[in-house]
Amino acid sequence: MNEPKPTKTVDQGLGMSGLPSLSQRERIGQAFTELDTPCLVVSQLQLQSNIEALQAFVSAHGLKLRPHAKSHKCPELAKLQIAAGAVGICCQKVSEAEAFAASGIGEILIANEVVGAAKLTRLVQLHKRCESLKGQLIVCVDSLKAAEEMNQALEQAATSSDLPPLSIYLEINVGQNRCGMEAGEPAAKLAQRIAATMPRLRLIGLQAYHGTAQHLRSIQERKAVVNQVCEKVNQTLRAFDSLGMGRPEVISGGGSGSVGLDARTNVFTEVQAGSYVFMDVDYMRNEWDASVQPAFAKSLFVLTSVMSQPTSHRAVVDAGLKALSVDSGLPELQNAPGMVYAKANDEHGLIELKAAADGGLPEPEALLGQKLWLIPGHCDPTVNLHDELVVIDDDQVVDTWPILARGRLF
Ligand SMILES: Cc1ncc(COP(=O)(O)O)c(C=O)c1O
Repeated sequence: MNEPKPTKTVDQGLGMSGLPSLSQRERIGQAFTELDTPCLVVSQLQLQSNIEALQAFVSAHGLKLRPHAKSHKCPELAKLQIAAGAVGICCQKVSEAEAFAASGIGEILIANEVVGAAKLTRLVQLHKRCESLKGQLIVCVDSLKAAEEMNQALEQAATSSDLPPLSIYLEINVGQNRCGMEAGEPAAKLAQRIAATMPRLRLIGLQAYHGTAQHLRSIQERKAVVNQVCEKVNQTLRAFDSLGMGRPEVISGGGSGSVGLDARTNVFTEVQAGSYVFMDVDYMRNEWDASVQPAFAKSLFVLTSVMSQPTSHRAVVDAGLKALSVDSGLPELQNAPGMVYAKANDEHGLIELKAAADGGLPEPEALLGQKLWLIPGHCDPTVNLHDELVVIDDDQVVDTWPILARGRLF
């Protein structure tokens, strides 16, 4: 299999070089008020506190943390998670994982299925890259056909025997009804077939992720689903036993909403939480209980400016649909009593102004240019709209990090 050919960059292809940069790196050392907007901002303090809180919690329960990097798509941030004790990262796409590997991170689980010749070609190259970084690439598989094609792609690419087998997790359907082989005997039989006929694959784990459980509002509801997930895993492990097969060493799953419950099950060995680094309006609507899991802080904001205020009741900001994802609800304003983000257009956000506690309403135009902090409704797709994460500490810009895997959807 050939190495992918280098492609032209957008600049080369469209002759756009010479455009003024969009990076705000030159503002390092300045106050956040100097930033141009809309831009994506992370509070270093809250971010670091989230990273440390979950790592301490997961380690205290004897599990490994492999945070999902699709939430931030940012190698600098992933390196902070690994420095704090994470065993590696998850990615959802091969091309997303390429960005992290290019930044020197070689411990990557693609917590998703990879199907089709184009993706398999890239996957094989990525496997080699992770090996050269002394890491390990792991991929999820949920069908015989996909496993066979993956095995074949690796077979064709193996010009020498020194490329080790690709590690895989067998994904089982734990009730979300998304990807995943049926739990129990069907999954165990697929594992048996892989072990017997696909020497280029090495099954080391089960993927048991339940996405909808994360956003069930009450802890009791989430607990009930986590129990069902564990039953599916145990059913599968018993089926492995019946076939006389060794049990996989890793049971991976869980997210920011369920991690406190997952960690107490004695079933999971690894958790994949992602959003906990940032949080968002949707996650904040969950019931949180500090006796179940750490309370995560809001660390991610879209900084926006008022660009028009025609009346005392209406202001318009420069962050709309192209700066914020609203699939899980509108953003909320931080520390802005009397203001509600009411509607998102492509490039405009409509702010309703209500009388604040002191009874006053701003005169028209009084808010022009004012900077406002928006807490995104859904962190992952919001991040994917931005090239750069501006890091602030104590109202000062301290760094900018490229969101390198942004838009890498292959
Ligand atoms: C497979 C998988 N693992 C982990 C996560 C992380 O979940 P969260 O961002 O809710 O922590 C997701 C999120 O969608 C996922 O799809």
